[in-house]
Amino acid sequence: MTRSLLITGASRGIGRALALHLAARGTHLHLLGRDETALAAVASEVAEAGGEAHVHVASVTDRAALRAVSARISNLDGLVAAAGISGVTPVDSEGTEVDDAFDGILQTDLTGCWNTVRAFAPRLGAGGHIVLVSSVLGRFGVPGYGAYCAAKHGLLGLTKALALELIPKGIYVNAVAPGWVDTSMARTGIHAMAQSMGVSEAEARHKAETVVPVQRFFQPEEIAHGIAWLLDPANTMQVGQCLNLDGGVVQV
Ligand SMILES: NC(=O)c1ccc[n+]([C@@H]2O[C@H](COP(=O)([O-])OP(=O)(O)OC[C@H]3O[C@@H](n4cnc5c(N)ncnc54)[C@H](OP(=O)(O)O)[C@@H]3O)[C@@H](O)[C@H]2O)c1
Repeated sequence: MTRSLLITGASRGIGRALALHLAARGTHLHLLGRDETALAAVASEVAEAGGEAHVHVASVTDRAALRAVSARISNLDGLVAAAGISGVTPVDSEGTEVDDAFDGILQTDLTGCWNTVRAFAPRLGAGGHIVLVSSVLGRFGVPGYGAYCAAKHGLLGLTKALALELIPKGIYVNAVAPGWVDTSMARTGIHAMAQSMGVSEAEARHKAETVVPVQRFFQPEEIAHGIAWLLDPANTMQVGQCLNLDGGVVQV
């Protein structure tokens, strides 16, 4: 039977890679994000890969918009909350810009996932799977990334609580914690790292890769593979777990 899945943050990066991975398996997809043109381009790629996709333009920070999208969907077998933003929020910054950045990251990366589950969990039945995309920065702290670390750590707490709330309905809630993944988000992070260290982007990337035991960044398709494993209907053992997809950085 054709499965139906909704992916937030589907316009690029990990969300797009997951959409294409699932399309090749004939999944019926709902792609959600803010950029209609980019989402439509992914929907075309999904169709070329043999899948079918509907585009939904909404921000995960807009609860009413998410509820409106949910009202147009009859049922889902899976939900992946991949939408996210990053950015530095040094605690000793001058002015209020950093406070706005802090609020924005929390609203998108943590509250946005809550909003997404609130809106779409009612479309899932027994055997449904929810995956929230955290990060290695949900496992340890990095100076200057207080908002992002707080959001991604918070997401793991949310995963554990929601998993226990929804397992009586037969819905499996889990998270993934990727390390460095070669997307626009990581490229922006490397750019910021290079600037703060006063080195080239190539040097900053090399330094970042050397702390990964497998000595490299991951491709979004590799993360998609891990998420798809959690989403598999046969996967009924993981409840409130976080799957590390980081090449050995975190070993718990
Ligand atoms: N790349 C990494 O190294 C890495 C590592 C660990 C975890 N992650 C996490 O993986 C997830 C995907 O990141 P990525 O690397 O694929 O980043 P990306 O390439 O920058 O993609 C981010 C996606 O999130 C969407 N998005 C952002 N704000 C949104 C909002 N308010 N409402 C709806 N959609 C929104 C973006 O779409 P629009 O802007 O078009 O709306 C885009 O599709 C994020 O949660 C990120 O924190 C990434």
